[in-house]
Amino acid sequence: MTSEIIRFHDLHPTEADFRREVLTGLRERPRRIAPKFFYDERGSKLFDAITEAPEYYVTRTESEILQQRADEIARTVGTGGLLLEPGGGSCAKVRILLEGLEPCAYVPMDISRNHLRMAAEEVAADFPWLEVHAAHTDFTRRMEVPPTAPEGPRVAFFPGSSIGNFDPEHAVEFIAAVADLVGPGGHFLIGVDLRKEKALLEAAYDDAQGVTAAFNLNLLERINRELGGDFDLQHWRHRAVYNENEGRVEMHLVSARNQRVRIEDEVFDFATGETIHTENSYKYGLDEFEGLARRAGMETVGVWTDQRGLFSVHLLRNTALTQE
Ligand code: AVJ
Repeated sequence: MTSEIIRFHDLHPTEADFRREVLTGLRERPRRIAPKFFYDERGSKLFDAITEAPEYYVTRTESEILQQRADEIARTVGTGGLLLEPGGGSCAKVRILLEGLEPCAYVPMDISRNHLRMAAEEVAADFPWLEVHAAHTDFTRRMEVPPTAPEGPRVAFFPGSSIGNFDPEHAVEFIAAVADLVGPGGHFLIGVDLRKEKALLEAAYDDAQGVTAAFNLNLLERINRELGGDFDLQHWRHRAVYNENEGRVEMHLVSARNQRVRIEDEVFDFATGETIHTENSYKYGLDEFEGLARRAGMETVGVWTDQRGLFSVHLLRNTALTQE
């Protein structure tokens, strides 16, 4: 199907970055690969499956908060704005907000091209009154509104505690970049996972069905598929640990034996127990996050949590004075 129901923009091609960043990260100690590379076609599908795992409370808890607060959020933000969603490749939670917010247009921005295109087309089909302008881009490098998008008071939406992938310093930088994107008086609605008991967190990142393990291991399969690597998946394990001091869940891929892996013409030797660090997922207290937002030039105009105190949604406003 050719898509005429959305406007699609390739703002920043990303294929070359995967190769370069993987090779660089595997040469480092500790070895690491950035979590944005989880989201190839299969990884995006596995992530959607994680959101349905019973242990992964994040998605369903946040959706519940958004459902309960959608009217209040719309009253504070106002209708007719330009709704921007960095990382919005699945266009899922935004559906909860659309009827209330009545934006003049919706702009999902994502690194996962096909996933973004399909999800954007579905949201456009389900909300026929909505203008959708999808932007294929790596938002961790650059956020940019597609040239076709209409003007309107801007509101950015960043659900799912995706902010947790940044360490706190970079989280401040990211929030400041969103503050720039939405401009003076603009709003930022962001989901933030809360600090909590270790056992609950570790179960959420190592579900019994093994979906999260498959999601983590898919990174190695992606390297095999796209970069001609020869990782033997039999000899790698998924590990998720809550690092309480740092306030983050860490995901690692652990080598189950001494092994040699080839990627293109480069050789990598792994010792038994050696790890590749693939993700940090930071958790915050309510005040702690409010402090980060303030440092980034945004004030808190609303904070909501669920009854069990698992998850929080913050509504921020760019405090800069409107330019005349
Ligand atoms: C999409 C980054 C918010 O950190 O909870 C889920 C990704 N990783 N399970 C998260 C993820 C393992 C997720 N974020």
